[in-house]
Amino acid sequence: MLMTFEEVWESEGVGDFVVGVGKRVVVFSSDPVVEGVLRGEFEGRGDWSVVFVGVGDGFERVSERCFRVGVGDVGDVAACFSAVEELLGGVDCVVYLWGVEDRAHVVDASGLVCVIQGLSRAGVRPERLVVGAEFGDGLERCYAESLIGFSRSLRMPLAGTFVSVVCRERVAGVVGVDASGWAGVLWDELNGGGADAVLYEGVGSRQVCRVRPVGLDEDCGGVLRRGGTYLITGGMGGLGKIFSDWLAAEYGANLVLVGRGELDDRRRARVQELELAGASVVYVSADVGDAAALRAAVEQGKARFGGIDGVIHAAGLESRRSVVDKDVGEFHRVVRPKVAGTLALDEALSGESVDFVCYFSSSSAILGDFGGCDYAVGNRFLMSYAQYREAVGGPGRAVVINWPLWNSEGMGVADADAAAFYLKSSGQRFLEAAEGTALFERLLGQSRGGHLVLVGEPAKVARFVGVDPAEIEVGVCGGADDAAQVSVSEGDGGRVAGPG
Ligand SMILES: NC(=O)c1ccc[n+]([C@@H]2O[C@H](COP(=O)([O-])OP(=O)(O)OC[C@H]3O[C@@H](n4cnc5c(N)ncnc54)[C@H](OP(=O)(O)O)[C@@H]3O)[C@@H](O)[C@H]2O)c1
Repeated sequence: MLMTFEEVWESEGVGDFVVGVGKRVVVFSSDPVVEGVLRGEFEGRGDWSVVFVGVGDGFERVSERCFRVGVGDVGDVAACFSAVEELLGGVDCVVYLWGVEDRAHVVDASGLVCVIQGLSRAGVRPERLVVGAEFGDGLERCYAESLIGFSRSLRMPLAGTFVSVVCRERVAGVVGVDASGWAGVLWDELNGGGADAVLYEGVGSRQVCRVRPVGLDEDCGGVLRRGGTYLITGGMGGLGKIFSDWLAAEYGANLVLVGRGELDDRRRARVQELELAGASVVYVSADVGDAAALRAAVEQGKARFGGIDGVIHAAGLESRRSVVDKDVGEFHRVVRPKVAGTLALDEALSGESVDFVCYFSSSSAILGDFGGCDYAVGNRFLMSYAQYREAVGGPGRAVVINWPLWNSEGMGVADADAAAFYLKSSGQRFLEAAEGTALFERLLGQSRGGHLVLVGEPAKVARFVGVDPAEIEVGVCGGADDAAQVSVSEGDGGRVAGPG
C-alpha cells in the first residue's frame, strides 16, 4: 500500500526535565561572551564542568578548561577529546556552537563532520550531542535545517549518543551571539528535550519536528502539458529514465536531460530510444552546481523547444561510506548536487516562466541514511528550500517529494542485501515505476508542497516511523495496488536508519 505523510513543526515543551548531576560538557565555542555566560549558567547551578573548544591554528591548551583546534583537523579534535577525558574523567555531553557564532559553519558542515570523526577516533561516546545553528533569513534557515540530516543519520556511527539539532532564529537587536538565550535553550535540551530536531522562530516557543499522515486532494492532475518541455537534472540516471520514458509515452514531451557525462554512445542510444517513443530530446552535459552551465542547458532547451514548462531536479550522488570513514571532500561531493545544484538551478531559471520545479528528495532526509549523513543533509536542504522558494514566489510552484526506494536501476540497489534488510525490517517494499509516476502526477497538483512517500504494510510502516497505526488514513491514490496514504510521525527513536 502506498502512503503519504508530511513533516511539520509542532509546539512542544521540553517534557520530563531531570537536571543531571555532575555532567561533563564540551562546548565547541570560540566566543568569550558565550564562554562566560555558559560557565555561569552551567557550572553555577551544580557540579557541572564545562570545557570550551575554540577555532585555532592547531591543537593547543590555552587555559585549564579551554582548548583550541584547527578547523577540519580530526587529529586535533580527537586529541582534544582525549585530553578532556583525562581532565574530567569522561565526557557526558558535547555542544557544537561554531555554527551559531559563524554562519560559515552552517553553510559548510566540515567543522561538525570533524567533531563527529574526532569523537569516533578518540572512542568518546557522550550521551548527548547538541548541534546549534542560527539563521537570519529564509535561505540561512534552509542550511540550518539541513543539519537535521545529521541527527537523523548518526544512530549507527554514534551509537549510544542522542543527537539533537537546534535551529534558532537570530534574535533581532542582539549584537553578536545571544549567549544567555542559548544558555537557556541548551540547559533545556541537555536536561530534558529528547527531540532530535528543535526550532525556535522569533519569540515563539519550542517546536519539534513531527511526521503525520496526510490524505491527498482529489482531482488535482492537469499540471503536466501534452507536448510540454521538461528539464530533468540527472536525466540519464535510474529515475531520470523512468520519468523520461513516462513523459515521452504519456505526454509526447520535449525533454532536456542534464548530467555530467559527455554524450557518448550509451547516452546517444538512449536519446534515440526516447525519440522513437515519441519524445524530442536534448542532452546537455553540465554539472548542476555550475549555474552558467545550467543556464546554457535552459537556453538550449528554449532554442529548440521554445520554453521550459517544468523541472525535475533528480541529480544526486549516493553516499557510500559512514561519516566517520569518509574525508570531508567526499561529504561535499554528495551534498553538492542537492545544495549548490538547487541554488544554481534557480539562478539558471531566473526570469523563466515554469509551471513547477520538483525536487527529488529521499525518505532518508526524514528517516536517516545509513550513517553517511551527507545524503540526508543534502536531501533535507531540498525539503527546506522548497518551502523557502514557495514563500519567495517561484518561478513556478516548488514541490519536494521524499521518495522511498524505487525498483529502478538507480540509487539504493548497489547493496542489495542492505536494501532488502532495510525494507523488510521497516515493513516497506520497493516503489514500482507505474506507482511512482502516477503519484508524481498527483502530487504536482496538491495544495501542499512537501510529501513523504512510503510503500508497504501500513501498520508496520506506521510503527517504523513512530505513528500510531490507528492514525493512518487510508484513501485511494491511484497506485498499482490501490495505494493509500499514511502519515508518519517522527521523533520516536525506534526507527532503523535506512536509505531511500
Ligand atoms: N532511486 C531511488 O530509489 C531513490 C529514492 C529516493 C530518492 N531518490 C533521489 O532521486 C534522485 C534520482 O535518483 P536515481 O536513482 O535516478 O539516481 P542515479 O541513477 O544515481 O542518477 C542520478 C544522476 O544524477 C547525475 N548527477 C550526479 N551528480 C550530478 C551533478 N553534480 N550534476 C549533474 N548531474 C549529476 C548522474 O549523472 P552523471 O554521473 O552523468 O552526472 C546520475 O545519472 C536522486 O537525487 C536521489 O536522491 C532516489
